[in-house]
Amino acid sequence: MNDRSPVAFVSGGNRGIGLALVGALRKKLGPEAHILLGSRSLEAGKRAAETLSDEGLEATPISFDLTNPETHAKTAELLAKLGGVDIVVLNGAYAPQPDRPASDQVRTMIAANNHGNLAALETLAPLLRANARVLVVASGFGTLDNLPEAVRGLLGDPEATPEQIEAVMDDYVEAVESDQAGDQGWPEWINLPSKVAQVATVRAFVRRYDSAADRPAGVLINAVCPGWTDTDAARPYLADMPDITPQTPDEAAVDLVWLATRPAGTSEPHGELVQHRQVVPFEQQV
Ligand SMILES: NC(=O)c1ccc[n+]([C@@H]2O[C@H](COP(=O)([O-])OP(=O)(O)OC[C@H]3O[C@@H](n4cnc5c(N)ncnc54)[C@H](OP(=O)(O)O)[C@@H]3O)[C@@H](O)[C@H]2O)c1
Repeated sequence: MNDRSPVAFVSGGNRGIGLALVGALRKKLGPEAHILLGSRSLEAGKRAAETLSDEGLEATPISFDLTNPETHAKTAELLAKLGGVDIVVLNGAYAPQPDRPASDQVRTMIAANNHGNLAALETLAPLLRANARVLVVASGFGTLDNLPEAVRGLLGDPEATPEQIEAVMDDYVEAVESDQAGDQGWPEWINLPSKVAQVATVRAFVRRYDSAADRPAGVLINAVCPGWTDTDAARPYLADMPDITPQTPDEAAVDLVWLATRPAGTSEPHGELVQHRQVVPFEQQV
């Protein structure tokens, strides 16, 4: 099969924002599009696809785990058979649990949200069609000012490579596990370094991608924050923030679809963190 029907892939598509996004993309792209619903558990992906199908929204469940490169390669193979991909949304993420010690979960979180997303970007980038849109779902917490200056280092270096940033995260994992992260100046909440590094890696990846001679024209790659949304991941935090009225996943999907479907000829945003259709400066001053 090698047709020009739109092709979209969403990771973490079995629940939360990802599931809403798969449904919203189907509505936006129409019945001809190939929409792949990535899920760590294929069974969970199939159940999610059935709930969408009940609403007349078809999607193809596939196995995809950020920490399993084999699933990245299989996704790439499938996309190659479809003639490439127009929309990639790396939405899935390990959600740190506030009631679990940081040292128990930091390695799992960095492996998925940082190393896993970079590995997926590397594997899927060669499949991008001209004018493809890539979204890495990160967070508004991913700006540099969320880290004390003492630990910003390569995360704030405009010439750092993705691999250098990922290496910083490996050192960070060691520091958390050996109870030295606080002494080094890292903030207590492990989500902050991870999200800042995630955005920094997207920016570094885009710098390198843009310098490649043989890339397709018009590709836009961004990190994106959906804003506070009522999902399993956010609920433990929202419980302590009564002043915040979260969006529903369907509401959160609206701006993500907007970014994922910027028309051909659009040149920005690219290499940015985007929230509610606006660029959030990575190096904003507080
Ligand atoms: N909700 C918010 O307020 C909010 C705010 C800012 C950013 N975000 C971001 O939005 C994205 C979606 O989160 P959500 O709120 O919709 O959370 P969610 O409902 O908890 O869903 C998380 C999704 O990520 C998947 N996932 C977990 N580990 C994975 C891995 N190793 N590989 C692939 N997928 C994995 C989960 O799969 P399983 O079902 O198999 O666990 C699930 O599909 C995340 O990137 C999150 O950081 C959310």
